[in-house]
Amino acid sequence: MTVPSPLDDAQLQYEASPYPPRDPRDEAIRLITGTPSHILEINHYLFSGRLNFNRPFRALIAGGGTGDACIMLAQQLAERKCPAEIVYLDVSETARRICEARAHARGLRNIHFLTGSLLDLPAADVGAFDYIDCTGVLHHLPDPAAGLRALSSVLQPDGGVGVMLFGQYGRSGVYPLQELLRTLAPPTMAVEDRVAIAKRLIRFLPTTNLFRRNPYLNDHVTGGDAGLYDLLLQNCDRAFTVPQISALAQQAGLRVVAFLEPVRYEPATYMSDPVIARQASALPMLERAAFAERLSGNLRTHVFYATRAGFDTVARPEDTSAIPVLREMDAQKFAAGLQHGTPLVANLDGFPWRAQLPALAARIVAQIDGRRSVAEIYTSLGALGGLPRWEDFYTQFEDLYVKLNGVNHMLLRFRP
Ligand SMILES: C[S@@+](CC[C@H](N)C(=O)[O-])C[C@H]1O[C@@H](n2cnc3c(N)ncnc32)[C@H](O)[C@@H]1O
Repeated sequence: MTVPSPLDDAQLQYEASPYPPRDPRDEAIRLITGTPSHILEINHYLFSGRLNFNRPFRALIAGGGTGDACIMLAQQLAERKCPAEIVYLDVSETARRICEARAHARGLRNIHFLTGSLLDLPAADVGAFDYIDCTGVLHHLPDPAAGLRALSSVLQPDGGVGVMLFGQYGRSGVYPLQELLRTLAPPTMAVEDRVAIAKRLIRFLPTTNLFRRNPYLNDHVTGGDAGLYDLLLQNCDRAFTVPQISALAQQAGLRVVAFLEPVRYEPATYMSDPVIARQASALPMLERAAFAERLSGNLRTHVFYATRAGFDTVARPEDTSAIPVLREMDAQKFAAGLQHGTPLVANLDGFPWRAQLPALAARIVAQIDGRRSVAEIYTSLGALGGLPRWEDFYTQFEDLYVKLNGVNHMLLRFRP
């Protein structure tokens, strides 16, 4: 594939200052894991937990940037000895070099690097993919729908995508500030001057300004100058609501199967009035998600999985041969922390979430080893004495699953 010429403003900026900034030397000390594209999530949401890692698996990381998703997935597939090929694609040579250096530092040999635009995929000879990651890219394209259609054109019929797009309500305050900066610091100015003016403007915003009143926008602080540019100086940047995402997916022949983390997309998370919570909770999944984003107002990004398959691709706990897996957590330590009825708490971008876990939570969690199924966990609890009735156990397991899966701690898989 060839780099489209000339590069547009956003592409030139990513070329000059790849985002997010990453140092390949850090691979020696940690693996960055995230959402989407964690192998446990791909398996759970797009392949019903039934991926067979002995079979070939092809993934495309479209707009791979400095490589977080690419490195995470390549590492996870390598650890499972999967005969996988990850294709990394980005218009930026600089970003590609950083991802290549990260792969080299880890000794990963399952990545094939390409430079070019994802818009050229339909005509490119790249084959079909089981999975495509595209995070933080489509909302910078002049026509995001054309971008998603281009990705869908190289997806296997039963394949799926993991996408991150900006969220409209949570980015409240961003777009008026972007417009101010288009007047004060137009794209014709040098990038350093534009960044300097943006910093001055932010420092002196009136207390009533929407950007200043949105405390959850912090990329300009945590991401340095590249983060500031990405948040405020992109020429092409738009944000989406849940219904708009659903429509975008449909135009590309895709169906949204989940938004992550699930608890953020449940109205009951934010609503203590039982009548309103019950009414909203009865809605279908996409309507609940749309209700939740309007209610919470703080969803700055939307991560979703969507599939081309015409059948249910999400692993469900009703099949008791499901194997619960804890994500990046030590089951014994977690179980120890759950003794004495300690509630599960999470900070959902400023919203304090708290869930009471069932009485058996600590005992169940202590039995989760990524190999035992739900039915086998019940049997091993029995071996430890004081076996509850199956119905009681299963009701409590389901309650625990909904809460832990809700904050992305627990996923399911099946033996292939
Ligand atoms: C905000 S970065 C996100 C990088 C990465 N996906 C991540 O989440 O860390 C956006 C990336 O998309 C790339 N990009 C922009 N337009 C593209 C296009 N048409 N085709 C492929 N990559 C593109 C940029 O070069 C940049 O590396």
